[in-house]
Amino acid sequence: MAKKIGILTGGGDCPGLNPAIRGCVYAAEKHGYECVGLSDGWKGLVEGNTTPLNRDIVEYIVMRGGTMLGTSRTNPVKIENGIQRCLENFKKLDLHALVAMGGDDTLGVATKLYRDHKLNVIGVPKTMDNDLNNTDYTFGFDTSVTRAMEAAQSLLDTGASHHRVMVLEVMGRHAGWVALYTAIATAADFVCIPERKIDTDDMIKKIKAAYARKRFALVITSEAAELPAAGEDNIKHQLDQFGHRILKDRGMGEHIASFIEKNTGIETRTSVIGHMQRGGSPTLFDRMLATRVGMKAADLVHAGQFGMMSALVGNQIVGVPLEKATGELKVVSKEWFDVMEVLF
Ligand code: F6P
Repeated sequence: MAKKIGILTGGGDCPGLNPAIRGCVYAAEKHGYECVGLSDGWKGLVEGNTTPLNRDIVEYIVMRGGTMLGTSRTNPVKIENGIQRCLENFKKLDLHALVAMGGDDTLGVATKLYRDHKLNVIGVPKTMDNDLNNTDYTFGFDTSVTRAMEAAQSLLDTGASHHRVMVLEVMGRHAGWVALYTAIATAADFVCIPERKIDTDDMIKKIKAAYARKRFALVITSEAAELPAAGEDNIKHQLDQFGHRILKDRGMGEHIASFIEKNTGIETRTSVIGHMQRGGSPTLFDRMLATRVGMKAADLVHAGQFGMMSALVGNQIVGVPLEKATGELKVVSKEWFDVMEVLF
């Protein structure tokens, strides 16, 4: 009987998960394995809920956003006997290996299961935030930034027509990559990211100068940027099972827009792209990257190299220790501040 590989997708969904599942199933079957999907992230393993997976089922999912397996932010560590139940269901389902696709949280659990329980686990890096270490890019990022970029371009048209300052708030949680790349790609006048304290005088000066030159301006802000002047620091945020702030009601774009309007006297509008930047068809880059890291995960299982994550390094897909990729987020580094100085 063929050995079985369980595949799960955890954390926020992102475009690329389906192509990654497909790549993994194709390569696994080629190596002689059978695959089964675990429903809704770690919840599927905790509860033993599965969904069938084979080449026929996944053939056309390469172009579909979201994840056909469903996802959740379930953290087995926070559930009574959660880890124990994962280990029991792994056995009950007769799994040889588990491929966990996710960001720092999902892969943190995978790391734990490998380190503490020697479970046959392989990680596949995904996140629209692009904040995972030890891989050059994560799939989901390119599509999300592309969506945000298109939104920002639309704002330029209406902003220029009405002679307004337009503020676009994008996701990214603790990392400013989505905001930074969107701002660079749309010739924005200012960008606010969580890694760099906003110099409000500088922001106002630059917006006034941009407006004086062309009678409109574009600002991109990350949902997690800090503007103490807006008093948002006092807001108590709900936390998810991994201890992350749920930023949905924070309204950073709105805070920044009011601050700009108040301090420039220029009519200012905000838009929040929100979850729209996480849906829709993956870009070519994400389809390719996801397919390749998914295939590599099956290769790593076949090679018995557990505790590894398939990663993009240069233009190669290689195995890197899961432990090195998780625990510390890859945030916008200081070198990028120099780039910001030139462009904004
Ligand atoms: O981690 C991906 C992400 O899209 C973040 O950028 C964002 O803060 C968060 O997920 C939103 O989570 P949810 O979909 O649970 O509202």
